Amino acid sequence: MRMYDLIEKKKLGMELTTDEIRFMIDGFTDGSIPDYQMSAMTMAICFQGMSKRETVDLTLAMRDSGDVLDLSSIPGVKVDKHSTGGVGDKTSLALTPIIASLGVPVAKMSGRGLGHTGGTIDKLESFPGFTTALPEEIFFKNVREIGIALAGQTTNLAPADKKLYALRDVTATVDQMSLIASSIMSKKLASGSDAIVLDVKTGNGAFMKKYEDSVALAKEMVSIGTMAGKKTAAVITDMDQPLGNAVGNAIEVIEAVDTLKGEGPSDFKEVVFALGAQMLLFAGRADSCEEAVKLMQDSIDSGAALDKMAEFVRAQGGDASYVYDTSKFPKTKYSVEVKAACGGFVHRILAENIGIACMTLGGGRETKDSVIDLSVGIYLKKKNGDAVDTGDTLAVIYANDREKMDAAAEKVLHAYEIAAVPKEMLPVVREYIY
Ligand code: URA
Repeated sequence: MRMYDLIEKKKLGMELTTDEIRFMIDGFTDGSIPDYQMSAMTMAICFQGMSKRETVDLTLAMRDSGDVLDLSSIPGVKVDKHSTGGVGDKTSLALTPIIASLGVPVAKMSGRGLGHTGGTIDKLESFPGFTTALPEEIFFKNVREIGIALAGQTTNLAPADKKLYALRDVTATVDQMSLIASSIMSKKLASGSDAIVLDVKTGNGAFMKKYEDSVALAKEMVSIGTMAGKKTAAVITDMDQPLGNAVGNAIEVIEAVDTLKGEGPSDFKEVVFALGAQMLLFAGRADSCEEAVKLMQDSIDSGAALDKMAEFVRAQGGDASYVYDTSKFPKTKYSVEVKAACGGFVHRILAENIGIACMTLGGGRETKDSVIDLSVGIYLKKKNGDAVDTGDTLAVIYANDREKMDAAAEKVLHAYEIAAVPKEMLPVVREYIY
C-alpha cells in the first residue's frame, strides 16, 4: 500500500477501505507517513468528505494508536463530558465538582486552549501549584478517594489524534465534520469511561457555525459512541455569544467558583445543569432530569460542590484557599471599559472575535508554544437581548499591556451587534441528541 495512492483516491472522491485507513493512521503515528502527505490527505478529506463507515474506521484506528485506559477497577459508572470548544466555556470547571459531589466518579482528560477557544487545563493552572501531569496511579487514586481527577492528554492516549490535530491546526483543516468527530471520539473512547456526554457548540464562536452542521456533528459522534458500546448523548448549545460573562483564564475560574456559590450567570448555569442532568441519568444517580437538577441545586446550596472543588484543587497540588477567597487571583495592571457607541438591543456578540480579543491580550495561545497570561481577560456586562443606551459599558478589558488593551477594546466593540429593535433570543440549550 502507498500513501500516495490513498491521497489520489480521496482526491477523486472515492471511499478508503478499513485497511487503508488503518495503514494511514499506523504509518502517521510511527512516522513512516510524513506530515506533508497527511496534510494533503486531510485537505482532500475537507473537499471530499468521509462516509460514516470511514469516519468510524478513522476513530477506531486513532483510538487504538495508543493506550486504551481501563477504569473498571474504579467502582461506579464513569461518565465523561466533552465540549467541541467555545469562548467563555468554563463548563467543566463547575460541572465536574458538582457531579463528583453527588458520588458519581469523574475521570477526565482535558486539553489546553488553542486559537480563539480556551482550554480547561490552562484555566485550572490559575490556581498556584495546580498540575494535570498526574502519574497514572495518582490519577486512579484521586478518582477512587475523592471522586475526581483531571489529567492532560498523555502522549500515549490517542497519539495519532494528538499529532493529527496539531497538523490540522496549522493547515486550515480543523473545521471538517468527520475529522472533528473522529478526533473527539477517539480520545473519549481511549479514556475508558462508560458513558459520554457531548456539548456541541453552534454559532459564530463554534467550529460548526451553522445549526444543521452542529446537529450533524452531534449525530455523528453519538452514533460512533453508541456503536463502540458507550452510552452517548449530545446537547447542542449556543455559541452566538460567549458563555457566561467572563472570558480569559483566572477570570473564568472565578466565574465557575461563583456559580458553585450560587452566584453565577444564568446562561452558564443552564448549560452546566443540562449536561450534568445527562451525566447523572447515565450514571443511574437520577431517574429524571427534574430529579437531577434538584440534586445539583442541593449540592450548590449545601456548599458540597464548592468543597469538592477545593478538595480537587488540593489533590492536584493547587492552592485551594483561592476557592474560598477568589480575590487572591492576580490582578492586571490596567483595565478599560468599552462603551456603546449607539443605543438599542444587543442582537449578537461575535464570540470568535471576543476569543481573538482575549488572545490579543495574551490570554490565549496563538501557537502551541505560546506562554499565556492567566490574569488578563474580558468581562461582558451586556449580553444578547439586553437593552443598551449610548455610553453604557458593554464590557471591561483587563490587561497588562496598554497597546494590547486598546487593540482588544477595539475588537470587543466591533464584536457587539446592536440594533434598534429587540430580537427574540433563542435558548442557550437548543436540542438533545441521543
Ligand atoms: N476538539 C477536538 O478535540 N478535536 C477537534 O477536531 C476539534 C475540537
